[in-house]
Parts: sequence; C-alpha cells; structure tokens
Amino acid sequence: MSFNLHSRSLLDLIDFSPRDIRYLLDLAAELKRAKAAGTEHPRLKGKNIALIFEKASTRTRCAFEVAVHDQGGHVTYLDSAGSQLGHKESLKDTARVLGRMFDGIEYRGFHQSVVEEIARNSHVPVWNGLTDEAHPTQVLADLMTMAEFGERPLHELTFCYLGDARFNMGCSLLVGGTQMGMDVRIAAPAELQPPPALVARMRALAGTTGARIALETDPLKAVAGADFLYTDVWVSMGESDAVWQQRIAQLMPYQVNAALMQATAKPRTRFMHCLPAFHNLETEVGRQVHEKYGLSEIEVTDEVFESEASIVFTQAENRLHTIKAVLVATLA
Ligand code: CP
Ligand code: NVA
Repeated sequence: MSFNLHSRSLLDLIDFSPRDIRYLLDLAAELKRAKAAGTEHPRLKGKNIALIFEKASTRTRCAFEVAVHDQGGHVTYLDSAGSQLGHKESLKDTARVLGRMFDGIEYRGFHQSVVEEIARNSHVPVWNGLTDEAHPTQVLADLMTMAEFGERPLHELTFCYLGDARFNMGCSLLVGGTQMGMDVRIAAPAELQPPPALVARMRALAGTTGARIALETDPLKAVAGADFLYTDVWVSMGESDAVWQQRIAQLMPYQVNAALMQATAKPRTRFMHCLPAFHNLETEVGRQVHEKYGLSEIEVTDEVFESEASIVFTQAENRLHTIKAVLVATLA
C-alpha cells in the first residue's frame, strides 16, 4: 500500500524514513518481477509527467520515460536549450505553469535549493533526478542492487564509497546506507569528505538505525571486509575541466583496481558505479584526460569494470524499477 507516500515529493532521501525506503524497495522488486513475467498492471494511466533536465542524462531520463510508458502514462521532456527555462522564465514561474498541466515533475539540475523551489511552487510531486548535493533515485537503485547481490539483509552488509564524497553520490550513499542500518565506509582525502553537518546528522540517525559510519582517508583500511566497493567520476557535471589535475592527484590512491578489490579480503566483493564511468579511452573526456595527464583509466580500471565482480549494469537496470516504484507510490 502506498499509504504514506502518496503525493509526496522525493527531493532527498533524508526526508524518507527507513520504512518508506523499505516500502519502495519492496515495490520495485515486485514491479521488476511483474515486468519480467509480462503481468505488469498499468497504474499511471492518464498521468502526465514533466521531465526537466538542466544537465545531461542517459539512465535517469530513460528510466523515467520507460517507467511512465510501462505504467500507461505520458512524459514531456524539457531542457534549457528547447524551452524558456532559465533564459526567459524563472524556475519558480516554470514550476507554477507545469503544476497546472502535469501530475508530477522530475528535475535534474545544479543546486538542491532549485528542486526545493520547484516543489514549493508546483503543488505536485517533484522527484530529484540529480542535483549537486543529492541523487536519491540513484541510491534507491543501489540499495536494491545491494539487496539482490548481498545474500544477507542490507543491515548486515558493508559498502565503501571511494571518491569525491562531498558531492551528490557520496552524500546520498551516506544517507541511504545510514537509513538502512548498513556498515557505511567513506574513503576520501580529508578535503573531499562529506559536509560535517550531514555527517553529524547521519551519526545521530545511526543511533536509531544501527548503522556504522566510518570516514577514512586510508583506502586500504576503508575497504577491509567490504561487500561492495562503489565509485563515481572524479569530476562531476557542472564542474570545470580545470579541476581534473588536482582531482587526479587527490584521488589516484582511491582508484578501484584489482589490488583494492583484493584488499577487502572478501572472496565475493562486488564493484558498483552509478555510471557513466571512465574505464578506457572510448569516451571524449577519457581521451582528453589521457592526452593531458597520461591516464588511460581513471576512477576504476578496465579490468575491474569488466570483471565478474562488476554489477554496474544491474544497477543501471534497477534505476528503471526503483524510479517506477517512486512514481507508482507517489502518484498512483
Ligand atoms: N547514473 C546516472 O544518473 O546516469 P545519467 O547521468 O545517465 O542519468
Ligand atoms: N557525481 C556525478 C554523478 C553522475 C550520475 C555527477 O554529478 O556528474
């Protein structure tokens, strides 16, 4: 039953209780099974959903579109290039217009304050499709994937996030892992650790959920005993290319490679990544970084990315099922 989630916005996982998250994960698993069995029942018939993307996207956009189509609803895609967004019309005015036409709005952009402003002004559910500070729909897919591969309940599992933990993925994984009572490890240099206010809040929450939180600068110590090693790009969307040099110097010790996978001392540690990933020279950015800094793989080696341990494409698929669960729970 979508008892307490109906009409709710998903701006940050912080606003959802462990019970809400468990409900969404169960619903996502049910929807995944139904799609595979061909027994999915459309619960978004007649619903119109706006998808606003101020930053690029492959997975998030496709997951929202396919989820809505599978459930019998309709989507309209808006970006800054093909709409009045930002140039001629404020987000606040846009939100008030879209709220009159649509049943719900997905938003991907820069500051968290913007998605909050859209939610305040549209009067329909708003779902955060990524901001600088949070990527809640990604973490729902990650939790679902860890539950599928972990062979134990989430609260008995350990993951380690390695990389720039100040940004969306580090922060949202810290939140999601804490809420599910997991053993949460963050491995990053001191200056790239999550914001102290968020850490304090999550440490307080851990007291009730049973989560263990460890912020480490030593990657070997951080990964010991981890069931999952998780990384993300070292330079995020919206950041200047000029930060690459410093970021490489800061994060090279945290690159997920075969040696680090072995350092968990667990035989079945899995590799996770929200994607897109720089693991070879088949991307423009990857080639530019190679030309300038001589690296042919960045946050993860091609060996690990392509290994049996890598579950990144299941994670990507689970974006669909979890986003569908959010839509059904908040709208149907
Ligand atoms: N992981 C993720 O959000 O991917 P996209 O940027 O392709 O949506
Ligand atoms: N931290 C990355 C996540 C991409 C899904 C970014 O914001 O670009």
